[in-house]
Formats: sequence, C-alpha cells, structure tokens
Amino acid sequence: MKLILLGPPGAGKGTQCKRIVDRYGLAHLSSGDILRAERAADSELGRKAQHYMDTGGLVPDDLIIDMMIGAIKRASGAGYVLDGFPRTVAQAEGLDEALNKAGETISAVVSLKVPDEAILDRMTGRRSCPKCGAVYHVVNLKPATEGQCDNGCGPLVQRKDDTPEVVSNRLKTYHEQTAAVLGYYQKRQASILQIDANQPIDAVTNAVFKALEGLDV
Ligand code: AP5
Repeated sequence: MKLILLGPPGAGKGTQCKRIVDRYGLAHLSSGDILRAERAADSELGRKAQHYMDTGGLVPDDLIIDMMIGAIKRASGAGYVLDGFPRTVAQAEGLDEALNKAGETISAVVSLKVPDEAILDRMTGRRSCPKCGAVYHVVNLKPATEGQCDNGCGPLVQRKDDTPEVVSNRLKTYHEQTAAVLGYYQKRQASILQIDANQPIDAVTNAVFKALEGLDV
C-alpha cells in the first residue's frame, strides 16, 4: 500500500500516520520529520530549510523533491505513507514522474478535513519528543507523566513553529499553495478518501481504517 496523507497543518497527519504504519506495517515518510532531523544534524539541507520552517513558508520544491524521492527509494519494496509531501502541485508532478519511472502508482490519497478554527489549539497544545518523534497534546493526548515521553526518551518540547504567529503563516501557506494538491489528484482520478478529522483522535483513526479497508490493493 502506498498512501499520501493530505491536510492542513495540525490536521493530525503525523498522529494518524503512526497508527496507520503500526497497523499495516508501512514506512512513515514525513517530510517535516526528515527536515527536522536534517536541522538537528546541522546538514547543508537543514541549514537551507531553517528560515522557511521557522517562518511558516515552504522549503523550495527542488530540495524537497530530491529529499523525498530519496526517502521513497530507500523504503523500496515496502509500502509507505507520505506525510507532508507533496505540498505543492510541482511536488506532486515530481512525485508522479519518479513513480512513473519506477512503474509504481499511489494506492490512495487520504484527505483529512479540519476547519481553520480548530487548528490553533491543536498546534499550541502540541508537545513532541525530540528523540523518537512521538507527538502528544496537553489536553487531547496527554503523556502518562506530564512533560515526559512515554517511550522513556526524556522531556517533551514545543516545536518552534507552533507559536500563534507562525501557525497563522502556515495556514496561509496551506491555503495558497497546498490546498490545490487535492485538486491535482482529483483531476487524475486518484482514489481519494475524504475523512472528517474534526472529531476525537480515535474516531478519526476508526474512519481512516474503515476507508482503507474498502481499498482494492
Ligand atoms: P510539517 O512537520 O509537515 O508540519 P505540518 O504539515 O504543518 O503538519 P504538522 O506536523 O504541524 O501537523 P500534523 O497534521 O502532523 O498534526 P499532528 O498529528 O502533529 O512541516 C513543518 C515545516 O517543514 C513546514 O512548515 C515547511 O516549512 C517544511 N516542510 C515540510 N514538508 C514540506 C514540503 N513538502 N514542502 C516544503 N516545505 C515543507 O497533530 C497536531 C496536534 O493536534 C498534536 O498535539 C495532536 O495530539 C493533536 N491532534 C491530532 N489529531 C487530533 C484530533 N482529531 N483532535 C484533537 N487533537 C488532535
């Protein structure tokens, strides 16, 4: 199974991806997680991405396409879920080109729908583990011990780009550049699974699993 998860910042892409990969044994390829790892390693890519990520803009397409096609190749053979990529029509075209060359296709696009009003609370309440990448929320998904990762990694942190100002820019960027990606896949008659993600986390997971069970793969 090869899936793309689409949705605005804070829609729950990372949260639902973790559950999908656990259930179906897929690789989780998150462009945001890969970029954050590049930044932590102080690589050239990480340094180039820094300003865009801190201000809520998008990292240039050519850098992202190379990075994600590389990740897909390394996951070769296994199914995967793409989280946060493609985020522009140019990225979707770059992905299609690489998949065509490899004789592969995407099984389905899972589109998480959440209104903008629900996003700010989710993002400002998010706490992440800098070591294992686990994601929590101060109200909606609490760790067993406040401020500590359940996997024994140590203290949780708040992402730098989860401030109200940057969240507002990320939403603007989403509407200006990323929302069109769904239309790209609609035009190509891809299998699109529309999910109401404005409900509790477990209810969203149930809706995603139900939709995936109906897929013919
Ligand atoms: P990235 O890390 O991809 O950020 P994002 O898309 O903005 O998505 P998030 O990770 O913020 O949210 P999510 O949808 O995964 O939600 P989560 O599950 O964590 O990208 C960061 C930056 O990197 C970008 O701004 C850009 O600069 C750059 N970048 C990345 N990819 C790029 C690309 N392809 N091209 C160019 N630049 C790129 O949930 C959020 C919170 O809500 C959590 O606390 C969670 O517990 C809670 N929550 C989740 N679901 C629910 C629910 N149903 N109800 C209540 N709370 C919920």
